[in-house]
Amino acid sequence: MATLRLGDTAPDFTAESSVGTINLYSYLGDSWGILFSHPADFTPVCTTELGTAAKFKKEFDKRNVKMLALSVDGKDSHNEWIKDINETQNTEVNFPIIADEDRKVSDAYDMIHPKADDTFTVRSVFIIAPDKTIKLILTYPASTGRNFYELLRVIDSLQLTAYRKVATPANWKNGEKVVVSPSISTEEARTLFPKGVEEIKPYLRLTPDPSA
Ligand code: BEZ
Repeated sequence: MATLRLGDTAPDFTAESSVGTINLYSYLGDSWGILFSHPADFTPVCTTELGTAAKFKKEFDKRNVKMLALSVDGKDSHNEWIKDINETQNTEVNFPIIADEDRKVSDAYDMIHPKADDTFTVRSVFIIAPDKTIKLILTYPASTGRNFYELLRVIDSLQLTAYRKVATPANWKNGEKVVVSPSISTEEARTLFPKGVEEIKPYLRLTPDPSA
């Protein structure tokens, strides 16, 4: 198994899930995707994460991002646990959870890190673009729940920078100034970004968010 890196094609798979059999590429269609693993059903941090993910679904939908969770528990377990998530997190789980009992998907995506735990998946996140290339990989340990505001923030950056010659600075949030890509001259930038280009250094140029 080769380690997946940014720019690699996301491995396709067909797997059981809480809502039946799912093929990744068919499920994603032309959308972006977020595939995220959690260690195990009926665990506290995972319960809060999946409840939060469900509450954020409308934000992922707005960004044309399809959600897909995964653990190595079976689909009956997932469906029992979903009842608890809905009850305790005051929500309704509204995306599939892959039941990766044979670890086929976890192995393809290198989601089991044996020195952390040789049985359960870590908290991996893969953001997949419409062309099926991997645009972001994050790995969190079991003890740390993920920040879903950060996942939306990074998706905003990935989507903006995929289509415009810009990059996003530290702590950037949607709508704030962006930096002009180092690959273009300031002169070219002034044509491309009619809202204005502020040249702080020849390599550090800011412009208002061109999509705002
Ligand atoms: C949790 O989701 O709470 C959890 C899962 C595995 C290990 C530690 C915490």
